[in-house]
Amino acid sequence: MQPFKWSRKYAVFIPEIDAQHQDIFRLAEDLRQAAAGGAPPDRAPAILRELMARGEDHFAHEERLMRSTEYPAFGWHQGQHDALRKRLNEFAPRIEQGEGQAALLLLKFLFGWLQDHVRLADCMMAAHVRNYQRAHVVAGS
Ligand SMILES: [Fe+2]
Repeated sequence: MQPFKWSRKYAVFIPEIDAQHQDIFRLAEDLRQAAAGGAPPDRAPAILRELMARGEDHFAHEERLMRSTEYPAFGWHQGQHDALRKRLNEFAPRIEQGEGQAALLLLKFLFGWLQDHVRLADCMMAAHVRNYQRAHVVAGS
């Protein structure tokens, strides 16, 4: 499967969110290399735990941002986060048990999910947040 590599096409133009996305892509790529044999296979569970922890912090960050800026599509966006949370929780025990195929299946799902989610849902959210913040800075000045 192809490598996970963050590039400008994934930019949402909110610096902390772009930085978090870059971390997530980097960890996903580490997991891919571990699953594909490019790193010791027993590294996979530790990388997955790190990926899940960073992912959860990132989702919580985005969800706080959506709530505080009264984002109208919050429920739809959170539903996409929940779908990935569910998938990660299903796959984690299998990867912990050393099932190599499980890591590859999860990564395949994650690859498609990131393409769709970052480039549509996160871009829409970020546009809303930037407009909201701009309007509120103007209103407050
Ligand atoms: Fe998101």
